Amino acid sequence: MKYSKITGVGHYVPENVVTNFDLEKHMDTSDEWIRERTGIEERRFFNPDKDTVGNMSAKASRMALERAGVDVKDVDFIVFATITPDYFFPGSGVIMQRELGLQGIGALDIRNACSGFIYGLSVADQYIKTGMYKNILVIGAEIQSSALELTTRGRNVSVIFGDGAGAVLVQPTDEKNKGILSTHLHADGDFAEELYVKDPGSSRKVRLDNEILEGTSIRAHMNGNMVFKHAIVRFSEVINEALQANNLTKEDIDLLIPHQANLRISNFLQEKLQLEEGKVYNNIMRYGNTTAASIPIAFSEAWQEGKIKEGNLICLAAFGSGFTWASSLIRW
Ligand SMILES: CC(C)(COP(=O)(O)OP(=O)(O)OC[C@H]1O[C@@H](n2cnc3c(N)ncnc32)[C@H](O)[C@@H]1OP(=O)(O)O)[C@@H](O)C(=O)NCCC(=O)NCCS
Repeated sequence: MKYSKITGVGHYVPENVVTNFDLEKHMDTSDEWIRERTGIEERRFFNPDKDTVGNMSAKASRMALERAGVDVKDVDFIVFATITPDYFFPGSGVIMQRELGLQGIGALDIRNACSGFIYGLSVADQYIKTGMYKNILVIGAEIQSSALELTTRGRNVSVIFGDGAGAVLVQPTDEKNKGILSTHLHADGDFAEELYVKDPGSSRKVRLDNEILEGTSIRAHMNGNMVFKHAIVRFSEVINEALQANNLTKEDIDLLIPHQANLRISNFLQEKLQLEEGKVYNNIMRYGNTTAASIPIAFSEAWQEGKIKEGNLICLAAFGSGFTWASSLIRW
């Protein structure tokens, strides 16, 4: 029996830094409001002449492969999580595949928003365990900024999101208690419309017309309070589920990497789980919420800062649109 292990982590963020003070110029908001409610100080917005979801994720993947010491030609499958693909269709897995010169291998796209990366990791975990593939890239990448309404009307959503890409390489191992110990996935479609972009969806007679384009239904709609309330419950539940499944306790966690939705949510979790200072990794201050990219970017940064060491127990947890929520425990 094979087990699966993350052997390389990488990320790429656009160079363009947008501070809360920059946003103040476009809408009635303030650095103080944004920092107090979300913890965000700045985020990255893509350069339309340079950055695409496809090429940012190729850069993140190359970094993950280099750190794993694996040649790009040896990658045999791609799992790509994004809700902002380069095109309406096909998905961005094939775009990144082309960027990496990997034509021919399978590329699967996942649309589970903020939980997308962990959903993707669970797919890779199963394929590695069954022996179907040996070198799987799992990506989370987003360009949110081009769809944000940078006006007072759109401020409750537009101050939160940012752009970036993260990647991991998943490979087989014979060691039972190393690598991905388990993944746990959940969803509740009753809440689909609490955090969603309605258009251009297929539920209308005409998918896109001028009336739709001029309205707000092409923008993300978020019931912030509802999302917050559900997030804190589901994050806690799914972390405990992962610990129980592995006969571990919260004291065993060396580093929790939560989806970077809101610093208040991360702080709440830290308190609830009574995790010491430094045991929860946060970078939302610098990048905002990058949806599917947030966990792999944070993972890669935590690794390069030396916060992930041999034998450490890492817990990943996410909550987002759907609602969907998920967790994974990893023994490094
Ligand atoms: C979005 C969020 C920060 C809003 O904080 P909140 O305390 O719930 O704020 P509210 O939405 O109740 O708005 C409070 C007031 O601030 C205003 N406001 C909203 N956005 C603002 C902004 N960017 N700047 C200034 N004021 C703003 C509102 O209009 C409202 O004004 P009112 O009282 O005059 O009506 C918070 O709900 C949240 O973080 N939710 C979770 C979001 C999340 O995690 N999303 C991603 C999931 S993956």
